Amino acid sequence: MKPEVRVKPGSDGTRSKQLIQEHFKYIALSTHDPENLPLVIEKANGVWIYDVDGNKYIDFSSGISVCNLGYPTHPEIKKVVLEQLDKLAHGAGTDFFNPYQIELAKKLASIVPGNAGRKVFFSNSGTEANEAAIKLVRQATGRKFIIAFYGGFHGRTMGSLALTASKNVQKKGVFPWMNGVVHAPYPNPYRNPWHIDGYEQPDELVNRVLEFIEEYILDKLISPDDVAAVISEPIQGEGGYVIPPRMFFSELKKLLDKHGILLIDDEVQMGMGRTGKMLAIEHFNTIPDIVTLAKALSGGVIPIGATVFRADLDFKQPGMHSNTFGGHALACVVALKTIEIVENLLPHVQRLEKVFRDELMPLKDKVEKIGDVRGVGLAWGVEVVVDKKSKKPDPQTRNKIIKVALEKGLVLLPCGKSSIRLIPPLIISEEEARTGLDIFREAVLSATS
Ligand SMILES: Cc1ncc(COP(=O)(O)O)c(C=O)c1O
Repeated sequence: MKPEVRVKPGSDGTRSKQLIQEHFKYIALSTHDPENLPLVIEKANGVWIYDVDGNKYIDFSSGISVCNLGYPTHPEIKKVVLEQLDKLAHGAGTDFFNPYQIELAKKLASIVPGNAGRKVFFSNSGTEANEAAIKLVRQATGRKFIIAFYGGFHGRTMGSLALTASKNVQKKGVFPWMNGVVHAPYPNPYRNPWHIDGYEQPDELVNRVLEFIEEYILDKLISPDDVAAVISEPIQGEGGYVIPPRMFFSELKKLLDKHGILLIDDEVQMGMGRTGKMLAIEHFNTIPDIVTLAKALSGGVIPIGATVFRADLDFKQPGMHSNTFGGHALACVVALKTIEIVENLLPHVQRLEKVFRDELMPLKDKVEKIGDVRGVGLAWGVEVVVDKKSKKPDPQTRNKIIKVALEKGLVLLPCGKSSIRLIPPLIISEEEARTGLDIFREAVLSATS
């Protein structure tokens, strides 16, 4: 039987409205959008979310790429959590030793491409994983500059914030952030400074980006021997689910190797099976020097961040970097189990890619306001524009689609200036996926007609 969403007929959302009002009285202004996403979650199960007014929704947001294993807790994760709670939860993993973080570090080292010896620094979030990467590359190379990409998102603390360049509001009013970062255009096939159609001419697009880095940064701005690293998301997440041409990272790595510049691969959003591979960089046949992870590594249960790096880059003495919760025993056990479950889900994610492709691609041909549809595995982005010719971003219509979808029982999140991400939990069944995709199509047609 086809799974059904239930938006209560006549539900006036009274409880939700009350709680949203209270929220803004007591909780700091952050990224909530009460106009388009007035969703007050009471509980969730599998891929289904229930709000405080009794409405039931299908989830295409995965709690911002965290709940890849669904809600509330995958049964196998629940089992290891309960067992571990009887042994050790917090064991001050940066001062005392524990076997759990060693096991997880070994596993993480084995899932990162390449055969270099790898070590891991543990933390609690994506931004912290990137902060550790910044300190690692600076102290290991003695070089201070880092190159990041426009449209990239790496966190909002003062170091990673300097790398982030997806929206100016993230940096508004808080200058100065960390010094020593310059940005290059990302090879966005749909929207780039050279107006190249990167789907038709991927080589041309990649060459322009590399030429920019070589000629406009390394030649005219900063000597290559002052540049410690380039940081990039393998597929930009917050920036709009933008997939660069397949040869981009291998060509970039060749250029970086020439100058002894390291490559940091930020897998915080795209890692952990989202794209049908454990790490998204595996689609690009490239071996990064450092990989950062967080979000879905925790199985949606407990925060964890990890910076997996070439062992020779390690901090030179104890105390150069540390924290309180890193190597948290419970978090490490959960992450180990999460990786095991995700490994088994990869073929399922690869199969569902076709379902998403077949349902979403026709929208690009049919609807004037759908400028681009791009995706791999269960990581899909749909870009909304005023019209195909101008490609002018249309955030109002994007927001309307998200709002209408929610009213019809589908949870979506925006990304980029005018894109929508469709990122269901990886455990979603084909029937459930089709239910969500049907609602998405109806919402697009209704909001753009
Ligand atoms: C690619 C990427 N890196 C880093 C971060 C920051 O992670 P956190 O919010 O856990 O600090 C995010 C968050 O969205 C992200 O998408």
